[in-house]
Amino acid sequence: KVVAVIMVGGPTKGTRFRPLSFNTPKPLIPLAGQPMIHHPISACKKISNLAQIFLIGFYEEREFALYVSSISNELKIPVRYLKEDKPHGSAGALYYFRDRIMEEKPSHVFLLNCDVCCSFPLQGILDAHRRYGGIGTMLVIKVSAEAASQFGELIADPDTKELLHYTEKPETFVSDLINCGVYVFTSDIFNAIEEVYSQIRDASSNYQSATRSVPADFVRLDQDILSPLAGKKQLYTYENKDFWEQIKTPGKSLKCSALYLSQFRQTSPHILASGDGTNRKPNIIGDVYIHPSVKLHPTAKIGPNVSISANVRVGPGVRLISCIILDDVEIKDNAVVINSIIGWKSSIGRWSRVQASGDYNERLGITILGEAVTVEDEVAVIGSIVLQNKTLNVSVQDDIIL
Ligand code: GDD
Repeated sequence: KVVAVIMVGGPTKGTRFRPLSFNTPKPLIPLAGQPMIHHPISACKKISNLAQIFLIGFYEEREFALYVSSISNELKIPVRYLKEDKPHGSAGALYYFRDRIMEEKPSHVFLLNCDVCCSFPLQGILDAHRRYGGIGTMLVIKVSAEAASQFGELIADPDTKELLHYTEKPETFVSDLINCGVYVFTSDIFNAIEEVYSQIRDASSNYQSATRSVPADFVRLDQDILSPLAGKKQLYTYENKDFWEQIKTPGKSLKCSALYLSQFRQTSPHILASGDGTNRKPNIIGDVYIHPSVKLHPTAKIGPNVSISANVRVGPGVRLISCIILDDVEIKDNAVVINSIIGWKSSIGRWSRVQASGDYNERLGITILGEAVTVEDEVAVIGSIVLQNKTLNVSVQDDIIL
């Protein structure tokens, strides 16, 4: 038997996701029409002998209650949300719930960060881990040297794949091979974390004062476990050859939505919308997800990279390109939405435009409307972030509307 743990973090971690994370925990924000954590969860479902999936976080239980009960029913796998009383760090949180996680005596525990977008080759990681031995195997990927410093950088033995050296977000370049935040461990990981706790408790050890800037019961998987265990024939790497992105900003979520939509094109094309503008069906271009409850006017033109959630109404002549439209939004006649995320219950007026600014890139420049924003008729909202419940009756550009 194996179990999977997905680290979902908590409200203080989602601040870069504002205004979307004001009323919805970041892990539940939809990408390609499904909550962010739906994608790793459905990848877990494919592992043979998977007994349970745990979500560990410090969000209120009620925020995940509906999702865990519906996904458990849908996948026929128990998915449980375990709430920490406060953050314990990525390894500390795992350790905190060790009895629950080990209840059914699994041989292996998968550990996944919630905020990565990936095809999650979990069975491949497990098979490789069984060949390597040791206490854990981590998914790694090559990125550009400039991008690497935002991640854990590492050096692996090219033949044995052993993790030889690990540094979390180093200031000077170590390697373009980085940690993807996806691991499999044997139960020995709990002994390794226990060991760190006892080092911290040990007053005679210089460990705490010399290297730690966090509370004594806070244990980070990367700095406190991976770095010291590197080069000891305990940890191994499995290189990801498929797509991988980290999802720290809403701009990244647009890109990740596109990646998951194109994955659906390969794995489950029936989820995607189709139509060529004839037979009263709208014109669909490229990969588009449309929830079955959406009311879409046949003269609308949608795509590529668009996902439209439940109960959205899209009027005549509307054009949507590269955007995420959340539940209960209304987009009125001839409005245009490009490179934007439209929050729940928002309304976009006739002949209005909502789009990224000219120098759009994945990090900044996209437009995000929070929940229940009203854009009146003939208003342009360009490269701006608009907080919830605002009404815009004049055009704005490169602005934050509080
Ligand atoms: N439950 C819980 N409790 N979850 C936590 C806590 C905690 O105290 N702290 C972090 N997390 C969750 C986050 O929500 C995230 O899913 C994951 O653990 C890792 O978060 P961080 O520890 O903040 O690290 P990071 O995301 O900046 O970087 C990590 O992931 C990168 C890949 O995305 C590192 O492991 C990097 O090396 C790695 O490249």
